[in-house]
Amino acid sequence: MTITLEQTLVEEKYRRYHKRINEALSGCFSSDNPKTLYAPARYILEGKGKRIRPFLTLLAAESVCGSSEEALNAALAVEILHNFTLMHDDIMDQADLRHGRPTVHKQWNTNAAILSGDMMIAYAYELALQSKTLRHRELIHILNHANITICEGQALDMELEEKKNATIADYLDMIAKKTGRLISAALEAGGVAGNGTEEQLKSLVTFGEKIGRAFQIQDDFLDIMADNGKSGKIAGGDVINGKKTYLLLRSIELSTGSDRELLQSIIDNNGIGAERVTEVREIFEKSGVLDETRAMINRDTEDALAALETLPYAEGREYLKGFAGILMKRDF
Ligand code: IPE
Ligand code: IPE
Ligand code: MG
Ligand code: MG
Ligand code: MG
Repeated sequence: MTITLEQTLVEEKYRRYHKRINEALSGCFSSDNPKTLYAPARYILEGKGKRIRPFLTLLAAESVCGSSEEALNAALAVEILHNFTLMHDDIMDQADLRHGRPTVHKQWNTNAAILSGDMMIAYAYELALQSKTLRHRELIHILNHANITICEGQALDMELEEKKNATIADYLDMIAKKTGRLISAALEAGGVAGNGTEEQLKSLVTFGEKIGRAFQIQDDFLDIMADNGKSGKIAGGDVINGKKTYLLLRSIELSTGSDRELLQSIIDNNGIGAERVTEVREIFEKSGVLDETRAMINRDTEDALAALETLPYAEGREYLKGFAGILMKRDF
């Protein structure tokens, strides 16, 4: 592995930029009227979001031009777009908790979550248009392309819930769209804001696709394996909802007998009762799928690092690599 920066340095910068991003976000959606439109947007942004995507946007700009000054608006646009997807995703997944707090449609209602999310999309584009770059057209295209791709991914996610013979390839295609593209777009947008070349944007996108895949696989892993309460979501929500994750699909292949039957029943019945989540977790542990998942995440991260080699500014580039290393091992 070619990570050269001390992890503590990367963590320190992540903390600093996390604060910088949150301060800027706290100035958004300041209007109070109508309350049921703007308050949900403020509420979701006040949650414990990791701010991974805007951090990547800022680092990407630094990797191509040495500064992230001009990339802040693009970073905020990406984070707001992301939070809109979460707000609507929680309706679709019937999720009650996010960041350890009631989801927007629980705290208010579904209509408020739909409408507030819609408004957030437009707000994000407006911010992107206000960024100092001369390349607005490219920036908007990147956001649009990501937005459409996420919708495709979310549609595939729902279709997969119903599909009885879903394959690991189906799952990987779906996560590239629902998660990978926004992460690669966050990097690409940072590259544009930093006035990067086409070649540099390509490197950033490849890096994003690889860490994006690893990130969603890790999200699925943490959904059921995270220490109690650490994910801030309902533990095992994915198996309860019958989501066809790598963990589930691969552990079916690896298991036999009654273990296999139980896992298969999650697919046949489109989910399983919350009281059986512990049992499913034990089967995952026994099946060896956790080691395979870890290996897959490691491989994706290695591939991601290789894509960055030619970026000119070590400041951004080395922090991107270091952050990929942190994400790979995350338990948050
Ligand atoms: C959640 O993304 C949605 C996925 C793609 C897994 P994050 O885990 O980055 O969510 P926040 O921003 O920290 O809330
Ligand atoms: C997230 O997938 C994808 C998007 C929000 C587009 P998940 O449904 O796995 O995300 P979480 O686990 O609810 O954050
Ligand atoms: Mg979902
Ligand atoms: Mg969800
Ligand atoms: Mg999830």
